[in-house]
Amino acid sequence: MTVKIDGNLVAAAVRKEVAEGVQTFHNQTGQQVGLAVVLVGEDPASAVYVRMKEADCAEVGIRTFDTRLPADTAQDELLTLVDELNADARVHGILVQLPLPAHIDEEAVINRIAPSKDVDGFTASNLGRIMRGACGLRACTPLGVMRLLEHYGIDIEGKHAVVVGRSTIVGKPQSLLLLEKNATVTICHSRTADLPAVCRQADILVAAVGRAQLLGADCIKPGAVVIDVGINRSDSGLVGDVDYAVAEPIASAITPVPGGVGPMTRAMLIENTLQAAQDTQ
Ligand code: GUN
Repeated sequence: MTVKIDGNLVAAAVRKEVAEGVQTFHNQTGQQVGLAVVLVGEDPASAVYVRMKEADCAEVGIRTFDTRLPADTAQDELLTLVDELNADARVHGILVQLPLPAHIDEEAVINRIAPSKDVDGFTASNLGRIMRGACGLRACTPLGVMRLLEHYGIDIEGKHAVVVGRSTIVGKPQSLLLLEKNATVTICHSRTADLPAVCRQADILVAAVGRAQLLGADCIKPGAVVIDVGINRSDSGLVGDVDYAVAEPIASAITPVPGGVGPMTRAMLIENTLQAAQDTQ
């Protein structure tokens, strides 16, 4: 029987732990854990993600400081806002929802966030710390994948992990976190020759390319653990980067879309926010 990896279940357990941690922080410091959420423009998908993140915060007792800015906001105005949030002691974490409008330099805005408040783990500083094997706030999606593997008792050491996708916020940090746990890691991308042949070598396959159902039966080694980070809109609703129906019978364990990695990304965001607050003490 293939194990269906239940991200909703694990995320609910994380939220419960974070809620307890938030309460303890309040009892010990008299402060409420706080997250600033910045949304620029009217991208409907971003608005949905932000609402869900704020609902998670409300559930666990994290106070949110909400800023909505119009799509034509000047970059300097956004940088000034980030400076103010960096200086605000009530704000322990800052989330600037991506993507930003095209006229804004995303890199400049993200790197303006104080690394100690960078609960997305997107700043050069926090990404560099992963590279160094140092502690710091780590990118939520890769961290959520690691938590799922841990929760389901999936051995990583000595296993061949294949990560499909080389984005700065998922593929690259994911590869480093797997390497840190002593996996042998291969990173694939759009120029990889014979992608299915490389994927078929994977004991642990992490799909993070953002292409609906790109990876089919020919990409799955029998008994592989398949982690699907993709969330793509298709005619049949939300689908992952893996063709779930054909991969599921071949895999030993697999994440569904939705209900796999997605809820874990949000759970790691609130966990990082609590960590950022605790680190101020
Ligand atoms: N846009 C899509 N995913 C994310 C995320 O995890 N964090 C932020 N800030 N923006 C996103």
